Amino acid sequence: MSTRGVRFAPGGRLRGQFTPPADKSISHRAAILGAMASEPVRIANFLAAADTASTLDAIDILGALVERRDHELVVRGTGLREAREPDAPIDVGNSGTLMRLLAGWLAGQGGGRWTLDGDASIRRRPVDRIAEPLRQMGAEIEARDGRYPPFTVHGASLKGISYEMPVASAQLKSCLLLAGLAADGNTEVVEPAPSRDHTERLLRAAGVTVERDGPQLSVTNCDELVLDRVEVPGDISSAAFMIVAALLVAGSRLEVHGVGVNWTRCGLLRVIERMGGIVLGEVESPEQAAPDREPLSDLDVAAAPLVATEVGPDEVPLLIDELPLVALLGCFADGDTVVRGAGELRVKESDRIAGVVDGLRGLGARIEAHEDGFVVSGTGGLRGGLLDCAGDHRLAMLGAVAGLASREGVEVLDMDAAAVSYPGFVEDLAALAQSGPHLGEAGGKRA
Ligand code: S3P
Repeated sequence: MSTRGVRFAPGGRLRGQFTPPADKSISHRAAILGAMASEPVRIANFLAAADTASTLDAIDILGALVERRDHELVVRGTGLREAREPDAPIDVGNSGTLMRLLAGWLAGQGGGRWTLDGDASIRRRPVDRIAEPLRQMGAEIEARDGRYPPFTVHGASLKGISYEMPVASAQLKSCLLLAGLAADGNTEVVEPAPSRDHTERLLRAAGVTVERDGPQLSVTNCDELVLDRVEVPGDISSAAFMIVAALLVAGSRLEVHGVGVNWTRCGLLRVIERMGGIVLGEVESPEQAAPDREPLSDLDVAAAPLVATEVGPDEVPLLIDELPLVALLGCFADGDTVVRGAGELRVKESDRIAGVVDGLRGLGARIEAHEDGFVVSGTGGLRGGLLDCAGDHRLAMLGAVAGLASREGVEVLDMDAAAVSYPGFVEDLAALAQSGPHLGEAGGKRA
């Protein structure tokens, strides 16, 4: 495993224009729905990153054909109920989204049997949250220690259920909606709080009736998905690192182009607004939410003084992947920034409460961990030092942004982990942070 250390020196104000890489969540879904569809699906701006490469490999093994044509990806699917059974386990790599969504599709294919496995991080991520409702629907699931990958899905004729989700997880919701397509009758899921709704939008675009009544969503059995073309917007979760860097480094001014502004993904922008940060641009509101497409926008960001804020359980799913950046913003804000109800962070690619708290504290932050979140006391700055991201792509990029905003710079160990979602991150950041030679190989080694 690579442990490339990269040093991010302070002071490089961010200037210019930037188009983030394609949205990871939507790319995964477009490819999986493409594999489930009856007619070819064209996908424009599909994300080229390690996670989505795992998805293309997985659907290929399941019998879909993937071709690149005129800058688009064309997926020729197997249809809803014809996935091939490979001889070996399907490798989902580092991707929880791929693992949980695929299980939902495969569970409804009676007589089939598929084992899903992944890297060391995936083997620590719980699958009981999907196994329990899929069993209630009629599938048989065997998991290591009853809870973890590798796990085997024995497909069955499913029946629709009504299920109250114990956690607000878009991966769990999407798994059940995909299983519901092959189940008898209606499948209803109730979310404890809204989470990203890309699956619902794409399913509607593919001709499926997905109804929402408050926190309850339902789908009905269907015979085929027909989806002609999907255009993937830029990933707000990747753009978020540049946005926060521009907010924290004095003198920055950044234009972000073509970014997805689905309101279920824009929680960070609302938090930034409360903190006094300046991000201008049109962002979707719940009232305007389009049922079957993804909104795009351009954003304009400038550095500004910040005040502390609180993020509670209902808001958490709307910025779950950006919470590490909220901790970093909190270091520079006036007052105590509090994040509660975010216990899900403990079962991400790493334990992100421990990773963020230990990582930022090592750089000089005043930050305390709680079981379900953290409290950061703003000190107006950050010293800098060494951050080991432990293979977690979002913590690697967090360390890089912290370095630019710090007094002494940050060396990030294992920077290559960023390639899971954003392979060109270091180069893009270097191009935006113009003034002087700020980045360099540090040759650091993991302890
Ligand atoms: C994702 C949902 C979130 C998020 C993950 C991607 C998705 O996970 O953290 O990075 O694409 O559905 P949960 O649904 O488990 O919260």
